[in-house]
Amino acid sequence: MRQPFIAGNWKMFKTVHETVVHVKELRSLVKDAQGVDIVIAPPATSLHAAVEAARNSNIAVAGQNCHWEREGAFTGEVSAGMVREAGAEYVILGHSERRTLFAETDLEVQKKVRAALGAGLVPIVCIGETLDQRDRQQTLAVLDQQLQRGLDGATADEVAGMVVAYEPVWAIGTGRNATPEQAGEAHAHIRTRLRSWFGAEAAERCHVIYGGSVKPGNIASLLALSDVDGALVGGASLDVASFGQIVAAAVA
Ligand code: 13P
Repeated sequence: MRQPFIAGNWKMFKTVHETVVHVKELRSLVKDAQGVDIVIAPPATSLHAAVEAARNSNIAVAGQNCHWEREGAFTGEVSAGMVREAGAEYVILGHSERRTLFAETDLEVQKKVRAALGAGLVPIVCIGETLDQRDRQQTLAVLDQQLQRGLDGATADEVAGMVVAYEPVWAIGTGRNATPEQAGEAHAHIRTRLRSWFGAEAAERCHVIYGGSVKPGNIASLLALSDVDGALVGGASLDVASFGQIVAAAVA
């Protein structure tokens, strides 16, 4: 049985000071939440402060990106090892904002997955179709390609421990979330693909979470779907009370 997994992607929000204030409030709000994985992904500058503020709590920390090389002349980048050493346990990879705004490719996502695993980080691999692709009935083909290329070379054991986030691009930051039918279809498809590529056990253990305008008001209907194992929350994770309510819905 997969334990619900609720992650907050803060994107480029919150300074170090704001991070510490937020985590202090969040840890007291969710201190009794059991049977749920709670993860926050602050900007790289706040990773270490978030880890310190969350120490001895039930909150884990994720990076939002990493480079695939161990070190080198890559101005502006951070390596998977650096993210891990800052105390993060997870790293978000292949987010649609990285793919569209920073031209990240499936092959780069694959290299980052390898680097993350090598550094001891759990990858949260994001996949999802644009509105244009959905309108052209290409959704499942796009998911197949992003998933297959992103995870190429991974072992069944590695996939079992990973998180895949289905984030329809048209639902991110738009207030327009996928209907339970749309999310259910995509998640079931992803699980089926994981099963055929990596085997039944890896597919059963891998978490497949949903992202895109998740709010306290819609989290319950998403979590009610058997193949939705949690959520990657953007905007609503910036507000302690909203994120706390989403965590609480996953406990219930
Ligand atoms: P919103 O929840 O703001 O739509 O963002 C979703 C997201 O991109 C999480 O990674």
